[in-house]
Amino acid sequence: MAQEDLFKKLVAHCKEYGYVFPSSEIYDGLAAVYDYGQYGVELKNNIKKYWWDSMVLLHENVVGLDSAIFMHPTVWKASGHVDAFSDPLIDNKDSKKRYRADVLIEDQMAKYEAKINKEVDKARKRFGESFDESQFRSTNPRVLANKEKLDTLHGRFVEALNDSNLEELKQIIIDEEIVCPISGSRNWTNVRHFNLMFSTEIGSTSESASKVYLRPETAQGIFVNYLNVQKSGRMKIPFGIAQIGKAFRNEIVARQFIFRMREFEQMELQFFVPPGTELEWFKTWKEIRMKWHRALGFGDEKYRFHDHDKLAHYANAATDIEYEFPFGFKEVEGIHSRTDFDLASHQEYSGKKLQYFDPETNKTYVPFVVETSIGVDRMFLQVISATYTEETLTKEDGSTDSRVVLKLPAVLAPVKLAVFPLTKKDGLPEKARKIIDQLKFDFNCQYEEKDSIGKRYRRQDAIGTPFCITVDHQSLEDDTVTIRYRDTMEQDRVQWSKLHGIIQEKVSMRNLFENITA
Ligand code: GAP
Repeated sequence: MAQEDLFKKLVAHCKEYGYVFPSSEIYDGLAAVYDYGQYGVELKNNIKKYWWDSMVLLHENVVGLDSAIFMHPTVWKASGHVDAFSDPLIDNKDSKKRYRADVLIEDQMAKYEAKINKEVDKARKRFGESFDESQFRSTNPRVLANKEKLDTLHGRFVEALNDSNLEELKQIIIDEEIVCPISGSRNWTNVRHFNLMFSTEIGSTSESASKVYLRPETAQGIFVNYLNVQKSGRMKIPFGIAQIGKAFRNEIVARQFIFRMREFEQMELQFFVPPGTELEWFKTWKEIRMKWHRALGFGDEKYRFHDHDKLAHYANAATDIEYEFPFGFKEVEGIHSRTDFDLASHQEYSGKKLQYFDPETNKTYVPFVVETSIGVDRMFLQVISATYTEETLTKEDGSTDSRVVLKLPAVLAPVKLAVFPLTKKDGLPEKARKIIDQLKFDFNCQYEEKDSIGKRYRRQDAIGTPFCITVDHQSLEDDTVTIRYRDTMEQDRVQWSKLHGIIQEKVSMRNLFENITA
């Protein structure tokens, strides 16, 4: 299936099965804002728990925080967001559509890369076993020509970004003959800066009101509380503060469903370290975070690091963890060595010391910071993209059937088990309810008695429920039930008293955590 079709199906599936709805849909929606439905909110909560516990349970020197969304406006001056949190914006005069100039150029680079990969794939098919990819890449004239175009473009792009040279960004768009995907024209405005922060007013009268921002990252709430946490928790450096919360950005181009939203959620860790050790810690956190992703079992080849060409104003090293979505490799998580920029700047703007006295070295310093920052919504999209599966099934009589199944890791699945009485009579519903009454304290359970068992299985497959339990007449006699496993569709007959153990073993996060810490 074409990746574009797959993505459309996945978005439709999220709506049909109560995962994600467009915001205010009855009023035709609000661009780049989404609501999470009955299953979506459970999946989101499970993702957050996986992240939170992996930070604060597995690291005794990491503690949590929940800071407010509104902050003193000077916070955003000190952090650099008022002056520098902007994207280069360009409009197409014919379609009146607005784009990020850097994204247009990145898409152009991706096109060169795709052309190269297409040549390589064609050659691999032609030469089979004897194909030597590195030799082909270094000698094939079409690959070399595209590689040269890509490298030249990349060089110009990085220089323009580093110099914040907006004229050059426009010139690149013209030289590369990049067209507006809507109008097909090259009739572009100049490139200009667009600040991404939303602002509003706090205060009851217009005279007393002052401008406040909706935070564009949760990180600053951690920085301004650094000393509160360090002192009240008697924390010794190195230590970290973890936070999950909403963030808001007035994105120019809102696209790809929940990948780029105007209201979204972040899971951020700021890890405070002695100056001079930050690059070592940066490396350590890169490894820890990649293991966290890979432990979910979506395939190691689906992830890669992408080091930043242009470092943010606060960073001395930065990388993204990218996941291969149906629309290509894209950032899911950013890992930044933020130096002492934020604490030093807050110290300067607030006039309050934000230092640490190290009792072992007798030195006082402003700590350096390594940050890991992942979007809950992007992680959600990663999980759905990795697990949405369409299968053709061959029945015993040779005919075929199909099913859509979300092969969610059991630990993340919104509903852990569904219990079905085979029929609505003979005491089977009562028995099924009894099983739920035993298991509901530990697992999210669902009871279903409508439709055939086959239809009930399909519905739970589409939701991603890993276990379906059927109660039949034999259950009344010997207390056994059938347990059906979502991915293999195999069934076992087990004593219902064994269910708790079987399910617990699969849905416990312990397995993932042991994997990460091994
Ligand atoms: N505190 C650092 C920071 O905010 P970032 O790279 O701008 O860094 C971190 O954002 C993560 O937040 C991204 O990797 C992404 O997962 C998520 N994110 C950023 N902007 C987003 C948006 N508009 N919609 C959804 N997620 C977003």
